[in-house]
Amino acid sequence: MNIDTLPPGPALAGRHLLLGVTGGVAGFKVAELARELQRQGATVQVVMTEAATRFVTPVTFQALTGRPVFTDQWDARIDDNMAHIALSREADAMIIAPASADFLAKLAHGLADDLLSTMCVARECPLLVAPAMNRQMWGNPATRRNVELLRADGVTFLGPTSGDQACGETGMGRMLEPDELAELTVAFFAPKHLRGQRVLLTAGPTFEPIDPVRGITNLSSGKMGFAIARACRHAGADVTLVAGPTTLPTPAGVERIDVRTAQQMHDAVMGALDAPGPRHTIFIAVAAVADWRVANYSASKIKKTGDDSLPELRFAQNPDILASVARRPDAPWCVGFAAESDDLEKNGQDKRRRKNVPLLVANIGHATFGRDDNELLLIDADGIRKLPRAGKDVLAAALVEEIAARMSGAGRPVTAGR
Ligand code: CTP
Repeated sequence: MNIDTLPPGPALAGRHLLLGVTGGVAGFKVAELARELQRQGATVQVVMTEAATRFVTPVTFQALTGRPVFTDQWDARIDDNMAHIALSREADAMIIAPASADFLAKLAHGLADDLLSTMCVARECPLLVAPAMNRQMWGNPATRRNVELLRADGVTFLGPTSGDQACGETGMGRMLEPDELAELTVAFFAPKHLRGQRVLLTAGPTFEPIDPVRGITNLSSGKMGFAIARACRHAGADVTLVAGPTTLPTPAGVERIDVRTAQQMHDAVMGALDAPGPRHTIFIAVAAVADWRVANYSASKIKKTGDDSLPELRFAQNPDILASVARRPDAPWCVGFAAESDDLEKNGQDKRRRKNVPLLVANIGHATFGRDDNELLLIDADGIRKLPRAGKDVLAAALVEEIAARMSGAGRPVTAGR
């Protein structure tokens, strides 16, 4: 098989981020954020205010990022004393986390009385802030005014959220968790390939009950479907995710409908497509849907009889959700998934034609269920294209790009297969 094998990179590969830390107890969480941003491929340069160093030491960030941490405008390590210019020029974005009430006030009014605030004024790159403060400080009229001024200046706010606060109170002003901040940073940089699109997805397994305490399910974890839902959202789409039983958290900004059985999944999908409002333009069927349900479901628990007789299950066919959607006169652009065990290319191409969808995505190899990585084969009318082994989030972003290119009619270079 001689097909395209360009390995996709992590979401923040090649990005240089300036992480500004101001004084707040949430500073300890920012050590984790620095790690997460690097895990996503970014290089991270930390700059701290003097107050921030009272909460976390520069040594912590230096050890985590492998780069010297700057706190002082007059740092002798920068030969021309232009630290504010030298450090901010290379950055793709500045992220201030935690951003204290005092620092937001300074930013809103353009004050430049220490290294970090001077860098913010001197920067050419986008500015993202993750506020963290007590609920009274967040609700204070002066802070409200400052937030409005900063929004009008084009500053992006990451949170805050509501919850327990270090002072023992509960309310709005709590900093988002490091993984949420990292996800919003990834979303900030993601190309908006699907802006204006409405995406409907299915993900996860289904569960077909035998009696009130037993049922038949499969090993699908939902990870791939959830990663694609997240990537569609990052790419600017409105996303509705119909999920079978899974404990995965809902990706930020995604509308989720939980279902259990294949029939419920079918009904939820049709309900979403028939709902008033703008129509869904893309349908991605990632769920591992049970082909059959138990026809002789027992409303009470099936008991052992005491003799050797065994219970007998009879099955009925479940609706094929993907094929039903693809048959509709108002069908969105449909993407199917397939877990084939043999002759992937031929069976995949046959399944794509049978289900009448423009793109079928086949998992390469067995036992991808539950793993964090995967390897995909994209099968369309022009042939096949391989997305080599990578994390499911990386593959999801690459798949979104492939879908957008096909929908725009730009096509993709294909080197073999038909
Ligand atoms: N699918 C669906 N509804 C079903 C069965 C499958 O929407 N009742 C979708 C899956 O979400 C997937 C695609 O159809 O996108 C292919 O699923 P797969 O199980 O590989 O195909 P089947 O049609 O069940 O074919 P078979 O199991 O016989 O290979």
